[in-house]
Amino acid sequence: MYGRNVMKIAENVYWVGIRDWNRRIFDALIPLPKGTTYNAYLIIGRNGKALIDTVNPGFEKDLEDKIRNLVNPEEIDYIVMNHAEPDHAGAIPHMMRIASKAKLITTAMGAKMAQVYYHTPQERIRIVADNDVISLGDKSLRFIEAPMLHWPETMFTYLEEDGILFSCDFFGAHVASGAYSDEVEDLLVHAQRYWGEIMMPFRTLAQRALEKIASLNIKTIAPSHGPIHRKPEPILGAYRRWATGETRPKATIAYVSMWGSTDAMVKQMAETLASEGIELAFHNLLVTDVGDLAKDLVDSRAVVLGAPTVLGGAHPLAVYAAYLFKALRPPTKFAVILSSYGWGGGAVRQIQEVLKDFKFKDVDVLEVNGPPTEEIMRQIAEMGKSLADKIKENV
Ligand SMILES: Cc1cc2nc3c(=O)[nH]c(=O)nc-3n(C[C@H](O)[C@H](O)[C@H](O)COP(=O)(O)O)c2cc1C
Ligand SMILES: [Fe+2]
Ligand SMILES: [Fe+2]
Repeated sequence: MYGRNVMKIAENVYWVGIRDWNRRIFDALIPLPKGTTYNAYLIIGRNGKALIDTVNPGFEKDLEDKIRNLVNPEEIDYIVMNHAEPDHAGAIPHMMRIASKAKLITTAMGAKMAQVYYHTPQERIRIVADNDVISLGDKSLRFIEAPMLHWPETMFTYLEEDGILFSCDFFGAHVASGAYSDEVEDLLVHAQRYWGEIMMPFRTLAQRALEKIASLNIKTIAPSHGPIHRKPEPILGAYRRWATGETRPKATIAYVSMWGSTDAMVKQMAETLASEGIELAFHNLLVTDVGDLAKDLVDSRAVVLGAPTVLGGAHPLAVYAAYLFKALRPPTKFAVILSSYGWGGGAVRQIQEVLKDFKFKDVDVLEVNGPPTEEIMRQIAEMGKSLADKIKENV
């Protein structure tokens, strides 16, 4: 057999994942400019073999072949399902069929999901709880519940003897290339984008998970997307900052404009903030990549939303951005809404309605009839200066 690419990450521990170079969209929502990987890992213990997670549907045979390169897959004793989402669990039915004596290891909630999504028979499932350990002889697997990171059933698996944390979606990045994170250019930028898209809504639970794993002697973090962290400190440090909601003197601008009025207002705001030394992320919603927008919201102290009125409400792209903002729950403290209307208006009202439950410290609003006058532009410059002060003071 020609060598299907497998990668040794520790003694008797192998990466048997798949690189999906050409995948360009995830969850029908998130663009993947760099593709992604579905990382699965094979652990060969003296008294048992375990497969940690599987791969996306469509790659079942590739996973099987990779495992065959190392062991006879029929000998696998445990298939650990850290997470039930199909990008990691999609090949479970295939692998459970081949590894006919294997038990599926998952949380109580994961057990229900395995039955619903993958029709795994109950008698083949072994439920584990926080801190349960399964021994493979010379390798011990400890399970750590990590609810909502990314789904309620999610857990991590910690290989004690080698200090490897199999963290599933947590600590991941959608990047197809690179074995180790220290070899990938701008890895933390990709990880920030991924955090913004996937983990940011669950900052409190992420903090709890970080506390739970703080006592472990982690040498390697092996997530289920993107490269492996053999130097865990950079990603751990970044996750600590992001989970606590540490922001920077930075504003994210997201806007759309049909005839240039909101565009002029937003640019006046951007110019002012830039001259005041505020870092800016500028997103025209017509062309922006929402993953990039999510990345910028991770550490922005302020958001400026530009939303003209269309048919009595806000432009649909601005509604989408406001809704996405609310759903992603970034640590943003200050907001400015800028809008232009032709006759009755309605955009600001609708954006405020979408964002009504979001606890900003301060929201400033300007709704203008038609194109902005010189006076309005001066007013926006004043708003910008005041916003810059708030961003710098950060209180
Ligand atoms: C398709 C369309 C629908 C609109 N619907 C409304 C509306 O219901 N109420 C209103 O006050 N203005 C409405 N307007 C006018 C715009 O809000 C107005 O021209 C505004 O200045 C556009 O801002 P912009 O130049 O940033 O696109 C509409 C404009 C368009 C093109
Ligand atoms: Fe997931
Ligand atoms: Fe995933």
